[in-house]
Amino acid sequence: MAVTIILGAQWGDEGKGKVVDYLAAKSDLAVRFNGGNNAGHTIINSLGKFAMHLVPSGIFNPKSKVVIANGVVLDLEVLLTEIEALEKAGVKTKGRLFISPRCNVIMPYHKMLDNLYEEAKGKAKTGTTGRGIGPVYADKSSYNGIRVMDLLDKKTFGEKLKVQLLVKNKILKSFQAETLNEEKVKKEYLKLIAKVKPYISETFSIVNNAIDKKQKVLLEGAQGIFLDNDWGTYPFVSASTILSGGITGGAGIAPQKITDVFGVSKAYATRVGGGPFPTELNDSVGEKLRKEGSEFGATTGRPRRCGWLDLELIRFGAKINGFTGIVVTKLDILDSFPEIKVATHYTVKGKKVNYEDVYNLEDAKPVYKTFKGWMSKTAGLTNYKDLPKNAKIYLSFIEKETGVKIKYISTGSKRNEIIKI
Ligand code: GDP
Ligand code: IMO
Ligand code: MG
Repeated sequence: MAVTIILGAQWGDEGKGKVVDYLAAKSDLAVRFNGGNNAGHTIINSLGKFAMHLVPSGIFNPKSKVVIANGVVLDLEVLLTEIEALEKAGVKTKGRLFISPRCNVIMPYHKMLDNLYEEAKGKAKTGTTGRGIGPVYADKSSYNGIRVMDLLDKKTFGEKLKVQLLVKNKILKSFQAETLNEEKVKKEYLKLIAKVKPYISETFSIVNNAIDKKQKVLLEGAQGIFLDNDWGTYPFVSASTILSGGITGGAGIAPQKITDVFGVSKAYATRVGGGPFPTELNDSVGEKLRKEGSEFGATTGRPRRCGWLDLELIRFGAKINGFTGIVVTKLDILDSFPEIKVATHYTVKGKKVNYEDVYNLEDAKPVYKTFKGWMSKTAGLTNYKDLPKNAKIYLSFIEKETGVKIKYISTGSKRNEIIKI
């Protein structure tokens, strides 16, 4: 397990942070390669409770180094606040956290544009986190990004900012939004980059040398694969490549270096923001899932939409990412459900269809199989043999339907509440 990718197999918030924190105890390097502070990865360990937005969750293993690679977009203020909170909790970051100079930086206008687009879309809004993610990646793709390396050079930064504000202020003005003062923004960002500077270092060699030396490298995916810009439920997606293949662009790692790809899935399903969700439950069962699972966003605090596990999605995810294992999280949340359903496939107009063939997932009707619940406590269990029979039946069904083995089962939010199979 030299190079392991941890991916959200649903719409995000699957418990990736918890899993990475657990696996990082035995790894040498943890790397973020996509997204930005739209991510919120919750970690509960001996040092306390943390919601990580940018710094890889492997930071809690004092022997591990962590990398924010080029595919990540950076809100410098959020980054500094996170570093400060870690240091305060006794987690050393200097000499352990490395940030790529190629990272694109989230500018104030990205956040403003994010909100303007959402307002303009009205009812059809994406339900973004409002962190400027779509606009910063749009600028990256259209060669209008400002990168960490640009900020390190006052003159380059000044020139690039001038061009961007020339265009962005016109847009902002036309929406009667506040325009941005060039000097003020420049001063603020130069101040921020000065504080981030000690962490900036080319990350390509750090990552690839670790791989060459056969060290254990963990790649911490952000979001979930159905928020992927190409293969997710577009336009209700996020802006980055969330798939396993994203590590080449996002972190500079060749595909054949990957040894394991773990898809992390809750034992049920959640989604935050807009977009189709075939197995969503808008009833008392969905409400119970939200309550038992404390399903409120780690980044925005928004209530998460809840529903049953959708195996058509996991099956597609396994294929496109090459899952070598599944990690099931939050099994304990189902402990008090007398009946548990799982979608095995979809139909459209009565015909069985695959995820990739349904361009508007609103049209897909999930077909369910019903399981008897176990109605006993799995919370905190660490041995597979201690699981109730009905839980084992449920888990075996997931393996059978997806063709992928379950490698870990998480039974609680704390680091060691996990079963290794
Ligand atoms: P991430 O974005 O994938 O890292 O997931 P989040 O941190 O946004 O959301 C997962 C939530 O579930 C967090 O509050 C975790 O503390 C919690 N959690 C993770 N795994 C488990 C588990 O197995 N059982 C329970 N009860 N909570 C869990
Ligand atoms: P983690 O890493 C859950 C969702 C937003 C919205 C859509 C686009 O914690 O799993 P964006 O701000 O990215 O432009 O929003 O994507 N979204 C997430 N949902 N978990 C996340 O990250 C998410 N990151 C983005 O809610 O629907
Ligand atoms: Mg999250």
